[in-house]
Amino acid sequence: MDRENLLKIALEARKFAYAPYSHFTVGAALLAKNGTVYSGCNIENAAYGPSNCAERTAFFKAISEGNKDFCAIAVVGGLEGKEAMQYCPPCGVCRQVMAEFCSPEDFLIILGAKNQVIKEYKLKELLPVSFSLNEN
Ligand code: THU
Repeated sequence: MDRENLLKIALEARKFAYAPYSHFTVGAALLAKNGTVYSGCNIENAAYGPSNCAERTAFFKAISEGNKDFCAIAVVGGLEGKEAMQYCPPCGVCRQVMAEFCSPEDFLIILGAKNQVIKEYKLKELLPVSFSLNEN
C-alpha cells in the first residue's frame, strides 16, 4: 500500500468523525505489517474528557482485533465540512500510544494537506527521548 492510498483511506475515515464540540474532524489509516489497514476518526463527548483522537481509534481497533505490528499511519484533519488545509500532526497522547507498539526508527507518520506536499516523519522524530519501561 503506497502513502497516497493510505491517505485516501484516512480521508474517507474523516467523514465519520464525530466532532460536534470542536468542529475539527480527523481521519487516520493505520497500516499493519500484514497489509491490513485500520481506519479511525475522532469521537468527541459532551464531557470532553472521554473524547478519542482518530489515531488512537485506529490503534485500539487494531489491537482489540489481535494485530500489534504496524508500519505506518496516515493522518488528515481540518475544520468540519472543509478540505484538510493544514497538516494535522498527532497529539502527544497519540504519539505515546504509538511508542508503546511501534519501532521509533521504522514507524512512519504520513501527514496530508490540500495543495501541500505530503510530509512524512519517523516516530523518533516526533517523539524523541520517549518514556518506556522496557529500555530503562
Ligand atoms: N484530534 C485528533 O483526532 N487527532 C489529532 O492528531 C489532533 C486532534 C482531535 C481531537 C478533537 O476531537 C479534535 O481533533 C480537536 O482537537
